[in-house]
Amino acid sequence: MAEETLFQQINNIAHRANPYPLYTELRKTPVLREPDGSYIVSKYRFITDLLHDPRLSSDIRTRDPEDRKARAAAASEFPVSFIRTDPPEHDRLRRMITRQFGPPHTPNLVDNMKNELAQIVNDLLDGLHTQQRTRIDIVDDFAYPFPVTVICRLLGVPSEDEVRFHAWANKIASSLDPQPQDSEENQELTTQQAVSEIGHYMKDLIVLHKQQPGEDMLSRLISDTSPDGQLSIMELISTAVTLLIAGHETTVNLQTNGMLTLLRNPEVLLRLRNEPELIVPLVEETLRFEPPVQFNSQRTAGRDIHIGGETIPKGAPVYLMLAAGNRDPERFDDPERFIPDRTDNQHLGFGNGIHYCFGAPLARLEVQTALNTLARRLINPRLVTDPPPYRPNAVLRGPRHLLIDIDGIKQ
Ligand code: HEM
Repeated sequence: MAEETLFQQINNIAHRANPYPLYTELRKTPVLREPDGSYIVSKYRFITDLLHDPRLSSDIRTRDPEDRKARAAAASEFPVSFIRTDPPEHDRLRRMITRQFGPPHTPNLVDNMKNELAQIVNDLLDGLHTQQRTRIDIVDDFAYPFPVTVICRLLGVPSEDEVRFHAWANKIASSLDPQPQDSEENQELTTQQAVSEIGHYMKDLIVLHKQQPGEDMLSRLISDTSPDGQLSIMELISTAVTLLIAGHETTVNLQTNGMLTLLRNPEVLLRLRNEPELIVPLVEETLRFEPPVQFNSQRTAGRDIHIGGETIPKGAPVYLMLAAGNRDPERFDDPERFIPDRTDNQHLGFGNGIHYCFGAPLARLEVQTALNTLARRLINPRLVTDPPPYRPNAVLRGPRHLLIDIDGIKQ
């Protein structure tokens, strides 16, 4: 059997717990051609250049029609999400959707959620306290239910429907992988079925919100008449599905990666307990050091692009290795070290350029609240297994479980 390329090794679950030495190797050839004709870009400077380069397309429909992802998009009855579109379509949709999420039209939306977020987090810990738990799974008991509750409330999706959309969301998230390796829980379902079922679920919900509008984002997106017009029903479905999935799949991993890093660095955990304001740079450093989105997997060269002494030919799939850029020694001092109060930290954890993470203000506040509360309330937390078991997903990387032992939970 042919030896695995570096990129194939990164995608191999055997390296999920620590892909970082492979990224160091990868940066030695910062624009690397894979045997299948795709290109892997791993240096910070080239990644940021390309994230701002209009020749690099996010639209999967520009790929060879035989490409796996292009075929899936063509077969879908629902349009691609705005994350997978280029200007001017992308800009129009992003403008219309942002109106209901942040400045200048809804400037205080995220800020006003501060108390609600703290309440959800404390309720979760109170529940574990009542059960007198001495062992908890940070993922299942805390980091997953928290952002799911938040994004459901924000959008106006009933959180009890989580049992329905969990498998769909998981399947769609794993389809981002270049070599999807399904977890046992979603082997029965195809990506196409997942897209179709979640699309129809969302369509029914939109109809319901049209009849009985609430204060939620879905109702506002339905009724808003912006200078760009109104979102069509199909655009609404794709947008709502994107926000629902993007709103929790990544945030789970940032909290868990953050907690894992704190438990591996007990002196930092102690410092955070005494200096809660450290949380702001600490979350940024987690986004650099252990980013939940390890690479962008859906870019395509719209034209020939000369970069790093290579020519990426028109039509080639391009992978931008955000996690490798985040540890590029040409950009960051001492990049392999977790420095919780690092000041120069323009990491790529939320991407960059026109597709820069739409939910970054919410994700930051959620994870700041979660880690500060865990640090304050958990008594003597210890890791049970290190490294923990990881989810198969190479793109959205994070532990499947993070078991910790505790001596109790403070009130
Ligand atoms: C820690 C949590 C999160 C991380 C690490 C993260 C990361 C990212 C990254 C790297 C991108 C760029 C993708 C690209 O360039 O193709 C992105 C885009 C996006 N994110 Fe997030 N995200 C997080 C949380 C959220 C949340 C909470 C929401 C929704 C409320 C959200 C919604 C989006 C959307 C809609 C886009 C696409 C924006 C566009 O294409 O214009 N994200 N995110």
